[in-house]
Amino acid sequence: MTDDKVTGTLVFTVFTAVLGSFQFGYDIGVINAPQQIIISHYRLVLGVPLDERKAINSYVINSTHEMPTISYPVIPTPTPFVEDESVASAGMITMLWSLSVSSFAVGGMIASFFGGWLGDQLGRIKAMMAANILSLLGALLMGFSKLGPSHILIISGRSISGLYCGLISGLVPMYIGEIAPTTLRGALGTLHQLAIVTGILVSQIVGLDFILGNPDLWHIMLGLPAGRALFQTVLLFFCPESPRYLYIKLEEEAKAKKSLKRLRGCSDVSKDMAEIRKEKEEVSSEQKVSIIQLFSNSSYRKPILVSLMLHMAQQFSGINAIFYYSTSIFESAGVSQPVYATIGVGAVNTIFTAVSVFLVEKAGRRSLFLIGMSGMFFCAIFMSVGLVFLEKLEWMSYVSMIAIFLFVSFFEIGPGPIPWFMVAEFFSQGPRPAALALAAFSNWVCNFIVAVCFQYIADFCGPYVFFLFAGIVLLFTLFTFFKVPETKGKSFEEIAAEFRKKKGGSSPGPKAAVEMEFLGPSDTV
Ligand code: GLC
Repeated sequence: MTDDKVTGTLVFTVFTAVLGSFQFGYDIGVINAPQQIIISHYRLVLGVPLDERKAINSYVINSTHEMPTISYPVIPTPTPFVEDESVASAGMITMLWSLSVSSFAVGGMIASFFGGWLGDQLGRIKAMMAANILSLLGALLMGFSKLGPSHILIISGRSISGLYCGLISGLVPMYIGEIAPTTLRGALGTLHQLAIVTGILVSQIVGLDFILGNPDLWHIMLGLPAGRALFQTVLLFFCPESPRYLYIKLEEEAKAKKSLKRLRGCSDVSKDMAEIRKEKEEVSSEQKVSIIQLFSNSSYRKPILVSLMLHMAQQFSGINAIFYYSTSIFESAGVSQPVYATIGVGAVNTIFTAVSVFLVEKAGRRSLFLIGMSGMFFCAIFMSVGLVFLEKLEWMSYVSMIAIFLFVSFFEIGPGPIPWFMVAEFFSQGPRPAALALAAFSNWVCNFIVAVCFQYIADFCGPYVFFLFAGIVLLFTLFTFFKVPETKGKSFEEIAAEFRKKKGGSSPGPKAAVEMEFLGPSDTV
């Protein structure tokens, strides 16, 4: 078997690629722990008086519970930069803080559209290198933010880092999907998510006050990614270009074979080449696919709708409500050391993503997604039940806490990693870049919506908020059950055929031959 060997080059290449995903996770988590320190710094820089500080407190999700007192760290040496001597209002500080958090998602939304395009223009490797310029720039702006108007430097740095993450959220799954042997595509695809969650965990750990999350060192924490960008750029020089890009896009057969030989560690790459050739034939029978055509062409409509639904399910499950607000959720649930509980969530998150790497090729994507979503449904209910009865029964805090841990675990079993690589499996080379761009865009938009709205919804619903997420999760579970096909171990051609099969009764188009070859005229769902 030449197609399921894990070679040194494959490991090195995937490791290098997912250093970008690591950055994505780090940026999600990094702003959480030093929130109050950075807010204090903004206040100091902008000259907001002491007694206005209360107004910029973050509030907990359940207004019926008492608010924790947030102690403001004392900044030992005042920063030299003071803007105009003017006294900015606390409302202004709140707005600046919101911008510091959300500008990341805005950058991500914008750039997610261009990941596939950049990969096509420059090739996957050079695109990842070019994207690192953004990562470097964003990190430097934030790393040196103490030397200037820190609020402006951080907001622009976060936007630029968001642009980087938006690009790689399309590029990395695309590249991994293209270099992975068919039988390992799920496991390797899951590594994108594993790197994201490791990034979140690392940012939570370095954010502890005795490491970098203190008034002296927080800017280093924000600037660290500069080192990662340089490191990855150097490693990328040694990674083989995607053979699919080389053969299908550039028609460089010899180079594609050479790249495959390096990746597979053997000289016989005929099986992979046959699959890639078949894909190329399919591509040449297709017109160039734009995002609009993904919806107007009936062979793409169903896979793109399913792709968008998978990403919406992932984000509207409420997972990032946990990651952005876990500390305040734990506080409302009566947990005494919320910061450590948050790190616990990060650790559980990482462990279960690693479990998923091994499960995904055994159990299949569809079943893991369904198991994960069903588990999250029950956990969301227990989370709310715990919060609702907390005032009457103290031990309910354990119910909420365990439910949060299990919620995250179920998420990582399926709904976390699977949408990221499954979309790449749904489409052949022609429509893949457009489909990945759109899927990543929808992920970022939904992420942004949850980040911005959760606090308002939580305030409105109080402890019942997770019932809402339970309802949403249930709907997406039903959708998955009825509409999402299994892709495990199938070639891109077979998967395309599976969708055509699911459409049921559609007239046989030019691709009907492929369908007959792989599946036969079987059932519909
Ligand atoms: C997925 C989501 C991301 C989330 C992460 C948590 O990668 O896309 O938004 O923060 O999982 O593990």
